[in-house]
Amino acid sequence: MFSFISKKYIKEKLKDTPYKIAVRNSVTSTNTIMKEHAVKENCEFNVLVASKQTAGRGRMGRSFYSPAQSGVYMSVALRNEENENPLLITTDAAVCAARILEKMSGKKAYIKWVNDIYVDGRKVCGILTEGVGKYAILGIGINVLPPKGEFPDDIKDRAGAVFEKKKPHIREDVIINFLQEFMNIYKNRQGETLLQEYRKRSMIIGKEILILGTDEKAIALEIGEDYSLVVKKENGEKVNLSSGDVSIKI
Ligand code: BTN
Repeated sequence: MFSFISKKYIKEKLKDTPYKIAVRNSVTSTNTIMKEHAVKENCEFNVLVASKQTAGRGRMGRSFYSPAQSGVYMSVALRNEENENPLLITTDAAVCAARILEKMSGKKAYIKWVNDIYVDGRKVCGILTEGVGKYAILGIGINVLPPKGEFPDDIKDRAGAVFEKKKPHIREDVIINFLQEFMNIYKNRQGETLLQEYRKRSMIIGKEILILGTDEKAIALEIGEDYSLVVKKENGEKVNLSSGDVSIKI
C-alpha cells in the first residue's frame, strides 16, 4: 500500500526538541528548497523532509535517486559557525547515520570517506552539506527500503537499502532517530570521540583506491586529524586528499 511519510507521527515524537519540521510528499530537492529559505529567514534547526525528490542532488553535481516509498530525504538548517569547519557537519552526520542505522537494523554500518554510508557492502546513504550565508544545509538521503523494481542501471551495482521489508513507520523512525542523535552530537561537540568512531567505521583504510579525476591508484593509509584522507601513491609519495578535490573508487 502506498504511503507518504507521516508528519503527525514525527512531530509527536520530536515535540520537545528545537527542530521545526515540515514534511512534504514530493519536492525537487530538499537542499535546494532549504537553501532558498535560508537566505530569507531565521531558520536554525528548520527541517524539511520529503517522501520523494524529483531532482535530488549528490556531491560533485551528481543526481541522487530519490523514489517514493523507499527512502528518506531531508535537509536540516544549521548555523554556519565561522570558526568551524563545515566538513565536520558532514562527518558528524555520517557517524550519526551509521550509529542509528546499525542500531535499528542490527547490521554493521561503515563510512566510505567522506560522506557515504555502506551496509552489506552497498551504499545506503549519502550526505551533502552546502553553505548559504549564515547557514550550513545538511542534506541526507537514506535508502531505507528497496525501491519498487530495481535501482537504475548506473547505480544498481553499488546501491542498496538498509531493510529488506516494510515495517510500520520505519521511515519515520529513521528520521526521528537520526534527528535525535544528531542533536545530541551537535549540542555536545564530541570532537575527538567522533573522530575515533569515524576512523573505526571507515571502510577504505588499507584498501587500494582510485582517485577519480586523476585516475591515479593509491593505498588509503588513515583518516587525518582534519578528516583528510592520507594516501600513499604508487610512486611512494604520501598525500592528504581533501574531500572537495576527489572522489574515491575502491
Ligand atoms: C551523495 O550521495 O553524493 C550525497 C547525496 C545527498 C542526498 C540528499 S537527499 C536530501 C538532500 N537533498 C538533496 O537534493 N540532496 C540531499
